[in-house]
Amino acid sequence: MKIGAVVVAAGSGSRAGGEKPKQYQKIGGRPVLWWTLKALLDHPRIATIQTVIGPGQSDLFREAAGDLAVESPVVGGATRQDSCRLGLEALAGHGLTHVLIHDAARPFLSPDLIDRVITGLLVHDSAIPGIAVADTLKKASNGTIERTIDRSGLWAVQTPQGFAYAAICAAHEKAFKDGQTQLTDDAAVAEFAGLTVAVVPGEPENRKMTTQGDLADADRALNRSLT
Ligand code: C5P
Repeated sequence: MKIGAVVVAAGSGSRAGGEKPKQYQKIGGRPVLWWTLKALLDHPRIATIQTVIGPGQSDLFREAAGDLAVESPVVGGATRQDSCRLGLEALAGHGLTHVLIHDAARPFLSPDLIDRVITGLLVHDSAIPGIAVADTLKKASNGTIERTIDRSGLWAVQTPQGFAYAAICAAHEKAFKDGQTQLTDDAAVAEFAGLTVAVVPGEPENRKMTTQGDLADADRALNRSLT
C-alpha cells in the first residue's frame, strides 16, 4: 500500500466569521491547518500530503504550513467536490495505491482513527469514519416539525475518508462528467459511481471547526493540554 493524503482547505469558512477563513485561524497558538497537516505528517503510513487552497490563499498557506514537509498547494474550486477532484489530480504520478481525503477544518484526527480507516481499506475500496446517530431526528419546515425520522442505521460521517486511489479518481471524473456537482463528501462520489463504502468507528473529538464557538473550545482544549 502506498497512501497519500489530500487536505481540502479551499473553503471561505463564512459560517465561522472572523477576518480569515477558519482553517487559518489560530487554536493553541497555531493555525487550524497546521494541526491538521501535522497529524497527517506524523502518521508513518502516509507518504505524501497535498493541500488544496482557495484562490489568493498562498500567503495564508505559507504562514500556516511553512515549516512542514508537504507538497506545494494547488488551487481548489467553487465546491468541496471540485477541490477534492483537483487535489486528487495533483497526486497523479506519485504511484499511490490509496488516498485519504481530509477536511482542513478537522484538526483533531488521531493516529488510531487513521489506522482504522487504513485497516478498512485492506478489505474494501472505500472506508469512512462515522458515529451512529444518537439524537432523535426530525424533518421540519417553516419552524414546525413535519415528521420524525427513524434513526436506526443512520451515521454521522467524518473525514479522513479512505479510497483506492484509481477508483476514487475515476468516480470523481464520472460525477464531474455526469454533472453531479452537489455531493458533499467523497463517499457520496464513491456511492454515485457504485463503489462499496465501509464505515469504521469515528471519534467525537474529530469534530469539524464550523463556528467561532468551535474554535474557542478547541483553543481552550489545546491550551490546557499544552500547559
Ligand atoms: O464548508 P465545509 O465546512 O463543509 O468545508 C469542509 C472542508 O472543505 C473545509 O476544510 C473547507 O476548507 C473545504 N472546502 C474546499 N473547497 C471548497 C469548499 C470547502 O476545499 N470550495
